[in-house]
Amino acid sequence: MNSPTPLDQLPQTNIFRKGDVFVLFGELFGRGYANGLVNEARKAGMEIVGITVGRRDENNALRPLNDEELAVAEANLGGRIINVPLMAGFDLDAPPGGPTPTEMLGKLTLKSWMDDTLDWAHIEQCREVGIKRFKAAVAEVMARLDDMIADGRNVFFAHTMAGGIPKAKVFLAIANRIYKGRGERFMSSQVLLDSDLGKLILQNFDEVSANSFQHLIEGSAAIRARIEKSGGQVRYSAYGYHGTEILIDGRYQWQTYTNYTQGYAKMRLERIAQAAWAEGIKATVYNCPEIRTNSSDIFVGVELPLIALLRALKKENGGAWADEQWQACGALLQDGISLESLLQRIEDFNESEVMRGFRDFDAWPMPNSQALADLMIGASDEIVHMHKDRKALITDLLSTLVLEATGPLMFHESSAPGGPVLWLNHNIIARQLNQIHG
Ligand SMILES: NC(=O)c1ccc[n+]([C@@H]2O[C@H](COP(=O)([O-])OP(=O)(O)OC[C@H]3O[C@@H](n4cnc5c(N)ncnc54)[C@H](O)[C@@H]3O)[C@@H](O)[C@H]2O)c1
Repeated sequence: MNSPTPLDQLPQTNIFRKGDVFVLFGELFGRGYANGLVNEARKAGMEIVGITVGRRDENNALRPLNDEELAVAEANLGGRIINVPLMAGFDLDAPPGGPTPTEMLGKLTLKSWMDDTLDWAHIEQCREVGIKRFKAAVAEVMARLDDMIADGRNVFFAHTMAGGIPKAKVFLAIANRIYKGRGERFMSSQVLLDSDLGKLILQNFDEVSANSFQHLIEGSAAIRARIEKSGGQVRYSAYGYHGTEILIDGRYQWQTYTNYTQGYAKMRLERIAQAAWAEGIKATVYNCPEIRTNSSDIFVGVELPLIALLRALKKENGGAWADEQWQACGALLQDGISLESLLQRIEDFNESEVMRGFRDFDAWPMPNSQALADLMIGASDEIVHMHKDRKALITDLLSTLVLEATGPLMFHESSAPGGPVLWLNHNIIARQLNQIHG
């Protein structure tokens, strides 16, 4: 990808109708991006099918959901869940009798981890065990799904999996410093990537956030062939991240959260969609804006670009509804603090020398720096303090709006997709919102 390829028209097509099948490949969480797509599928009258990543028992063995967990998950999704554990990654896999990568990390200490080495031959065996387990589970899921889809139906596979941070005590402390540390607590993300610990984590991110999409596409080949032969169509979508164009100084400019350690996996995800596309498979990665979800809350400052959406809402011909969003956001600030002053604070932040230095698309994902951490985490903290209640933030409200807009954008674009990798920038998000509410 040498430049971002934006989605620049509101997509109008919809091939999906009652009786077609929507498959969510990942679990659905309250604030998660996938809600946008699930809402569209529901509106279209599609049958909704979900999966589970499974749960760990007291010995860390992967198990399906129990009856109670399954009932809760199905009620939450509004559809049936195929109860075969689809946990991606290999952090808790190992050949019989051997240690798992998470156990191997147990010997690392906060003093020694930068120089500690790992047994890569053994890690490769664990990776192979994890991949074999995941592919076998995908095959079982697809066999069950096959019985649930009649000939001639259209099928939408929505991939939402991302993650892979191993549950090792030492890493939790390091992550806290890399993503939340400033001043003396700052830690360079490059130091992590240069360590064996970092290299292991990147491999696990690849499995969870990228290769799982490949396994989905390959594992559903037989369903795809049957559906297409019987007159139906099959689509694949995945959520990417590769920076977003937002309004800075009155024009849309590409910017990014740094350091997005998962960026290498997200670029791999893009390549997987491109390779599938080259074979005639309609798979699209939608690079989505920064929002606050269960998964992104660890990255302090990731929410800052979101605030500029308020300006985009107005620029894209926002009417009374856009004004209402401004008022609702303004009402969340402390008395005496205006929305304009907050927007100016964000503008100054984006215009700073430090932030300009990170607007380098070709160098993405760049490592963080002390100056960046101090500025970004400081700004994030300051902005939270401008609110009346730290549990009701402007970025919560705007996250909900972005999620709402991505639903119809991805759903309709995937009906007649323009390419394998598309950016959903603030302009198209704002236009979609103004159209829904106009
Ligand atoms: N939040 C953001 O700012 C943002 C921006 C752009 C793209 N995205 C992408 O959107 C997608 C959904 O993320 P979200 O932010 O809505 O958060 P979320 O927490 O709601 O979703 C994370 C998903 O990953 C799945 N998952 C986590 N670990 C897994 C594992 N080991 N194996 C299999 N599945 C696993 C979960 O089941 C869930 O479906 C992700 O691909 C994410 O990278 C998020």
